[in-house]
Amino acid sequence: MQQPLTPAEIVRELDKYIIGQRDAKRMVAIALRNRWRRQQVPEHLRDEIAPKNIIMIGPTGVGKTEIARRLARLAQSPFLKIEASKFTEVGYVGRDVESMIRDLMELAVSMVRTEEMEAVKMRAEEITEEKLLDILLPPKRQAESRESASDQTENLRAALEESEQADSTREKLRKLLRKGALDDRYVDLEVPDRNVPMVEIFAGAGMEDMDYNFREMLGSMMPRRTKRRKVKIPEAREILVQDESQRLIDMDKVIKSAVERVEHSGIIFLDEIDKIAGRESTKGPDVSREGVQRDLLPIVEGSTVTTKYGMVKTDHILFIASGAFHISKPSDLIPELQGRFPIRVELQSLTKEDFLRILKEPENALIVQYESLLATEEVKLVFHEDAIEEIASIAYQVNSRTENIGARRLHTIMEKLLSEISFNAPDLKGQEIPITSAYVRETLQEIVKDEDLSRYIL
Ligand SMILES: Nc1ncnc2c1ncn2[C@@H]1O[C@H](COP(=O)(O)OP(=O)(O)OP(=O)(O)O)[C@@H](O)[C@H]1O
Ligand SMILES: [Mg+2]
Repeated sequence: MQQPLTPAEIVRELDKYIIGQRDAKRMVAIALRNRWRRQQVPEHLRDEIAPKNIIMIGPTGVGKTEIARRLARLAQSPFLKIEASKFTEVGYVGRDVESMIRDLMELAVSMVRTEEMEAVKMRAEEITEEKLLDILLPPKRQAESRESASDQTENLRAALEESEQADSTREKLRKLLRKGALDDRYVDLEVPDRNVPMVEIFAGAGMEDMDYNFREMLGSMMPRRTKRRKVKIPEAREILVQDESQRLIDMDKVIKSAVERVEHSGIIFLDEIDKIAGRESTKGPDVSREGVQRDLLPIVEGSTVTTKYGMVKTDHILFIASGAFHISKPSDLIPELQGRFPIRVELQSLTKEDFLRILKEPENALIVQYESLLATEEVKLVFHEDAIEEIASIAYQVNSRTENIGARRLHTIMEKLLSEISFNAPDLKGQEIPITSAYVRETLQEIVKDEDLSRYIL
């Protein structure tokens, strides 16, 4: 395992993308570090120490999901985000809580597989080149007739000459191939048939509810069909590289390492946990929220879940729950679950100053995003400082007058602000376009003034 980041390092990394929310950053950093600490403790004690998961409480659009997602990326962890309200109690129709472990496992497998395939790519490309050359210039059979000794020497000489000739032709072809001079040529290739597999047909019919073992079985019952197709060399190369990489990697190893990753570094983000808070046992067709909480408990505490890749232990998976908690409170969760989420942190509503910084400072800042989008059209956007202030201020106004959707407001405003330029960009090629505060006001004023219009457009 790689050297784990210290809490301070984690916060510093998060700072590159998320503005403010100092407490939340510190708390998730602690939660992540605690997991690592717990894994280092001698085994007899380890089981005594309960997992320290975290609940983030705060209004919409202030960075809850973003923090969790960045944290996962930092830790190179498999990361799954799921709404707690999607789950139904075992025995009811819908998603049971164990499905999140299976989904996380699925993610981890594809994560590791991609890495492994990347690692063997060079080798796969080499093999592919040889295969393509074989297709373009099928290798000659060895001389078959071997009569007398003198004939044999003759044959050998002929064969040698021939093979030397073939070799040099092959090398010439290789050069052409590498230069891309043969890219317009077609070759015959065995490719997987793209017919809709049976499983997909079932998928519409509530496949989700079907036992995954059964789903697997169905899948393997269908023969993997291939057909011969004429494809151009570049496409053939892609198909062959993909094929060869698949062949070169060891799936058993991939699965083993994916299980390890889920168990030791998996992160599950349980969104809308407040929607399942509450202890009343609802009557009627409603699924009881408490039931879902009870189902969650063993997974959060640590249990073993069967997946199609084998058993997965959930003891060290980090759970980050999140919710607005407008109506319910964390104390409305069943006590056992509260105990498994001992770290609580509140996120702050974003201020006008935060908006200003969010527009400018993160590595993926919105301003930077739009500048680079339009740069592809050779249009140079130049945002004036007071224009950015104006945008932040409008976002804040609209949020307080209509609905507070946090930083998401910046996205809708920027989109509206730049829609004209965005549309006309191909005709503005080579130009430099200043975005001034006057331009911002001019473009957005009418909409901002009219509350109803704001509701629809911004
Ligand atoms: N503090 C922040 N710094 C930088 N960007 C932010 C911040 N808060 C939110 N954003 C941006 O706003 C968008 C929404 O944020 P996010 O998804 O984290 O909201 P959330 O708190 O999870 O809201 P919800 O409760 O609705 O899920 C994202 O694109 C994110 O990058
Ligand atoms: Mg969210």
